[in-house]
Amino acid sequence: MVMWVFGYGSLIWKAGFPFDESVVCFIKGYRRVFHQGSTDHRGTPEYPGRTVTIEPAEGEVCWGVAYKISKKEDQEIALTYLEVREKQYDKKAYLDVFSELTATTPAISGVMVYIASPDKNVNKNYLGPASVEEIARQVIRAEGPSGPNRDYLFQLEKALLQIGCQDKHVMDLANEVRRILSEQE
Ligand code: SIN
Repeated sequence: MVMWVFGYGSLIWKAGFPFDESVVCFIKGYRRVFHQGSTDHRGTPEYPGRTVTIEPAEGEVCWGVAYKISKKEDQEIALTYLEVREKQYDKKAYLDVFSELTATTPAISGVMVYIASPDKNVNKNYLGPASVEEIARQVIRAEGPSGPNRDYLFQLEKALLQIGCQDKHVMDLANEVRRILSEQE
């Protein structure tokens, strides 16, 4: 059976596993939020970075990229790799993705998505909402084994624009980070 994985964060610009096809698409009823703490990739336990997760949001959509993985051995490689890379994301959901805003029938069903839930009992790194300025300052300060947190934010902003998505939350945060950095110069 073919496997599909939907990425809405770093998976958009770096899959990191073998795949046969990628499709720009969106999930319905969710929004992308910088609410997950990262102590393994974009921060440290002392200064956690912030990465995106998705949360339910009625009437909203979250754009990203779905990857098709056909061969059994490629699926095993992808799953082994993703279970390590996304280990701070405590939930896996299987959702419908759409490629046309007017479509009522999904383009693909049962697409695997990693989610960091807001349940602090199972997701101890969850940071939750904060003001744009507070999140921006945290992003500026944080750096982890995968690089500076600000690079994650800027790469996400760029990758989203490249797939034709203007995500206000991401763009507002990126603008705030640039504003603070320019003041510090
Ligand atoms: C994803 O890209 O779908 C998960 C979040 C991330 O790794 O940035």
